[in-house]
This record gives sequence, structure tokens and C-alpha cells, in this order.
Amino acid sequence: MEGLAAAELAQRFGTPLYVYSAGALREALERIRGAFRESPEIYFPVKANGLGAILRLLASDGCGFDVVSGGELKRIQAAGLAGSRVVFAGVGKEAWEIEEALSRHALSFINVESLPELEEIEAVAGRLGVEAPLALRLNPDIQAGGHPYLATSRKRSKFGLPLDQAAVALERAARSKWLRVIGYHVHLGSLVSEPGPYLAALERVQEWAGEDTLRQEGIEYYDAGGGYAVPLVPGEESFSFSRLAPALEGLLGDAGWKLALEPGRFLVGGAGILLTKVIRVKAAGGRKFVVVDAAMNDFLRPSLYKAEHMVWPVEGEPPPGDSLPRGDTDIVGPVCESGDFLALNRDIPPVERGDFLALFAAGAYGDSMASRYNSRRLAAQVVVDGSEAFLARPREPFQELWKGEVWT
Ligand code: LLP
Repeated sequence: MEGLAAAELAQRFGTPLYVYSAGALREALERIRGAFRESPEIYFPVKANGLGAILRLLASDGCGFDVVSGGELKRIQAAGLAGSRVVFAGVGKEAWEIEEALSRHALSFINVESLPELEEIEAVAGRLGVEAPLALRLNPDIQAGGHPYLATSRKRSKFGLPLDQAAVALERAARSKWLRVIGYHVHLGSLVSEPGPYLAALERVQEWAGEDTLRQEGIEYYDAGGGYAVPLVPGEESFSFSRLAPALEGLLGDAGWKLALEPGRFLVGGAGILLTKVIRVKAAGGRKFVVVDAAMNDFLRPSLYKAEHMVWPVEGEPPPGDSLPRGDTDIVGPVCESGDFLALNRDIPPVERGDFLALFAAGAYGDSMASRYNSRRLAAQVVVDGSEAFLARPREPFQELWKGEVWT
């Protein structure tokens, strides 16, 4: 990790341990910005990684935040970033959350997900006596995303407004003193590997907007959402912003719509690894089980989405660059579930008790989806910047597991 050996970090801070590279994060940000003629506004989705140190790093590099709950708004505030620009999305915003968002002076817009929600926003804005800046989250019915759970813009999805309802939303907003629609938002899904669906979505929105002047008046933003893939195993390619950017800018042309993006995994996914220690190696039923000290509670993606992430010993031969070695080894955690695994059907160099393994591309939706299942404490998290390692969140003390409980 930058100038530091992963094994030394694992020794020093203990495992399971998330380690993030500040350099890799900045580089990913630059890969996005550098691809565009005019740098887009970047809103980092806090759900991908809410670690305060990461949020502060991104804010200092000029990013705003995409939030989906009142809790995430409070998290930004707690990290000292109350002044950062925010967009607020989510299909189930409650009145208190809408109120919290509208009370922020740095709110860029709220993404409207349904007509009843528009009414609720109007009521809250009216009560507060403020005009709500809105983007309509459109559902263009486009297939994209790496797993059915990660696709969000098909017709049957719970997210966004179908285009006919969006037209109604515009009419209602035009009649309201408290609502101002300033943008359109489309989030396709996650782990999208090609630019095509992003371009198809913008084309569909432009075609729809072109049918009626009300659909163009006052529109300042097009928010293309997130979803840009990073490689999880050798041989996969990173999403190409250098291919997306000119095509997207070409489509946007001179319409005057500012571009906003919400890249989560692209910024932090590849910048993080999860370090884990081999507890023991076990053979049974013709298979080999490498039992490690990280589990589904620390990193849920393999169990929940059958996601395949590269897992490899941190010392010895480096991992192969072009394919995922297959074999009869499962890398499993200590949690009491057969669904608890980090990797299945792999071939890895021989390891023994005490060796460290790294799970790659763990920086996004790793710790942010962690739980305390099996009374396991949340892992420690470290940020490496050059030759410095900073303990951004120590491993939880055991008392956190029952904190706040009341016994009679
Ligand atoms: N914007 C919106 C409105 C979103 O819903 C999301 C992700 C993003 C941006 C960021 O997507 P990204 O660039 O990080 O792919 N837990 C899943 C991912 C769920 C993503 C939900 N929304 C996983 O581990 O793959």
C-alpha cells in the first residue's frame, strides 16, 4: 500500500483491517476529472464508504456528497463537513430527513423519486418557508448493472419516476411556490462496465425533454449518477471515463446542462483492501478451507451478490495479472453460516496459520455494509498516504456490542 508493506500494517494494527490508499483515491478522482473538457461536479455517495477520514479527503479535493438518509447527513456534519455541497436521493425519505436537507445552506438538490414524495417535499418546504431545489430522478427503463440487486433503472424497479409521471411532476412543481426543478437525475445501477447505457439514458432524457418546453425551462443539471465499474479480479477492466466523457459532453452540447456525477466504487473501491489473517487450514470432503479472521459481517459482497473479489497472500508471489486462478480452495470466515465466505473455488499459493491475505477492491461497500453479526466487532480502518499510516477508526472495544442495552 503506497510505501508500506501490507504485512507490516496487519501486524501493527491487527486484523481484520481495512486499508485505504489516499494516493489511489486521488488518482481515481483525477482520472474522472481529467477525462472531461469541463470538470463535472462530483458528489461522492456516502453509502459507499462513510469513514470520516475518507470523506474529509474527498471534500478537501473539492467533492460534494450524495446522501440517502438523515444519518448520512449527520455523518457529514460530524466529520466537520457541514459546508459541503450535497444531493439527497432515496426512495423513502421521511419528512424529518427532507427538513434536515432543506435546512442546509449547501444543498444542491433533492432527487425526487415519486409524486407522493413531491407533495411531501412541498409540504415541508412550505412549512419552512423555503424553495426546494429539485432534480427529478428519472427511470429511463435501461438494463445495466452487475447483478440483479444492483440494477436500479428497469421499469419494475422501485427507484425513480417513469417519464410520464415526471411530466406530471413538472406541471405540479411549476404551479408551486415552494418547488423548483433544476435538474434531471438518472442512476442506472452499479458495476456498469461500458459507457453505452449512460449515453442511452441521456439520449432518452433529451428526447423526452425535447417534446415540451416545460421540460427544458429552468433545468441547470444533468446528474448521471454512479455505477462505474472497477476490476474486482485480474483480467477485468476499469470503466473508461476517457471513452464516456467526450461522448457525454458531445450529447450535452450547448444545452447548458451542467454535469454532475456520483461515482462511489470508482473512487474508493480500488483504493481499499481488506487484510485478514489465516486462523487455520482445514481439509474436508475433498476440499480445502482456508479459515480466516474476516467474515461476511466485515465484507458482505461475496455472500450477498456472489461477488468474486481477488484474494491473495500478501507475501510471496504476486497475484497473476490476467485471470482468476480456479481450484478447490474456499476462503471462509468464522461466522456460523455456510454462506459465510470471502472466496469460493480458488487456487492460491500454500498458506498456513498466521499468514496474511488481502481481499482486493474492498474500499467500497465493505465496511459501510458491515455488521456485528456473531457478536463480532467492526474492523479497524487505516488510511495510508505515502509512507504514513493513520488509524482512522480503531477496532471497536467489545463494550460497543451491548452499548445502550437495558436489562431489567
Ligand atoms: N448514486 C445513486 C443514486 C446510487 O444509488 C448509488 C449506489 C451510487 C450513486 C453509487 O454507485 P457506485 O458508483 O458506487 O456503483 N452495495 C452494492 C452497491 C449498491 C449501490 C447502491 N447505490 C455493492 O456492494 O455492489
